[in-house]
Amino acid sequence: MDKVVTCVAPVNIATIKYWGKRDEHLILPLNDSVSLTLDCDQMHAKTSVIAGPFIDEDSVWLNGQIMSIETNERLKKCFHLIRNLIKIRKGENSQESKWNIRVCSENNFPTAAGLASSAAGYACLVYTLANAFGLLDEDLPSIARQGSGSACRSIYGGFVHWKAGIDELGSDSTAIQIAADTHWPEMRIIILVVNDSQKKTSSTVGMKQAVETSELLKYRVQKCVPERTKGIIQAITDKNFEKFAEITMRDSNQFHAVCLDTYPPCVYLNQVSHDIISFVHDYNKAVGKIKVSYTFDAGPNAFLFIQQNDLNLFMSELVNVFPSEQPNSSYLRGIVSTLPYEVKPFGFKPKDKDLLKYIMVTKLGSGPRCVNDHLLNDDGTLKSKQ
Ligand code: DP6
Repeated sequence: MDKVVTCVAPVNIATIKYWGKRDEHLILPLNDSVSLTLDCDQMHAKTSVIAGPFIDEDSVWLNGQIMSIETNERLKKCFHLIRNLIKIRKGENSQESKWNIRVCSENNFPTAAGLASSAAGYACLVYTLANAFGLLDEDLPSIARQGSGSACRSIYGGFVHWKAGIDELGSDSTAIQIAADTHWPEMRIIILVVNDSQKKTSSTVGMKQAVETSELLKYRVQKCVPERTKGIIQAITDKNFEKFAEITMRDSNQFHAVCLDTYPPCVYLNQVSHDIISFVHDYNKAVGKIKVSYTFDAGPNAFLFIQQNDLNLFMSELVNVFPSEQPNSSYLRGIVSTLPYEVKPFGFKPKDKDLLKYIMVTKLGSGPRCVNDHLLNDDGTLKSKQ
């Protein structure tokens, strides 16, 4: 390989949450999950790869820092699985499987902000390696899954279903696309990044503790998730926003109830998260219809779903209730119109200023893709930033 290959991969947000593993080593989940893949234009991981006899050793640079592959089991596993796939496709003794690989990766959003950076990161690593070695096939979600479970869903665009499967080796635990992004082009996602410095239990640790101690998790896995998964796939197929929104909110609430049922409890939401939840319910009540829904991952940031026609009215009220000292140009990011947002349709009482860091509006995306803007030079050296 004498040319660098570079790809971008998106963040995905689960509406039916993955929480709990049946196999820690293979990263096999206890339950199915369903997610929406976001547009790479606003948020993405970007990875450049070069491999060849002229690269002296395997190395991975993440956001300007070198990572240790030896001590990072998940990274090591992804390299190993890609080399296995090269051998299967190109022969046991193929030269390419012996080449060292240099990887350089970056996120265009804060890694530690709790915005699913590991999902985008591992999906991008696996997708870029696969492109570099000409290995694009249906094995990619299974390899990405072994980097970080939720990463398998970022391999596809639109609406994605990660089937838990029952096979002990995980052959049937994979992601499939339910519908492309073009199926529901009016769908918008509003990300409310909450000002918070509290250190949280990682997803990996939190879900392990939940499996060991939560009774509610067992009920959720057996009873609630199968019904909700069926329901939300139907709602997506029918573009039934109200049904989609209600299932999404109920599943987020139950996931956080499981976190509280964990012993000792994992607390991911803070007061601002709860203020957002109340605001969404009050807003829907004022409008008389479910127009907007929320979901929260293992952190306090909110992901709201709304359709384009309802966006401007809701945004007016949102910036009224959660005001900022910053100018709108830095407070409101992404595909948001430059409206002054002075109308206060329902006149909810404003909260204190700067409870949110910023608000990002984005849409559905079509999944990972190759780009020409590389992070590495063809000789394997890192491109210096201008
Ligand atoms: C709350 O995929 O980060 O975002 O498999 O241990 O790497 P590991 O966990 P991870 O967990 C994501 C949990 C979640 C819900 C979801 O995305 O489905």
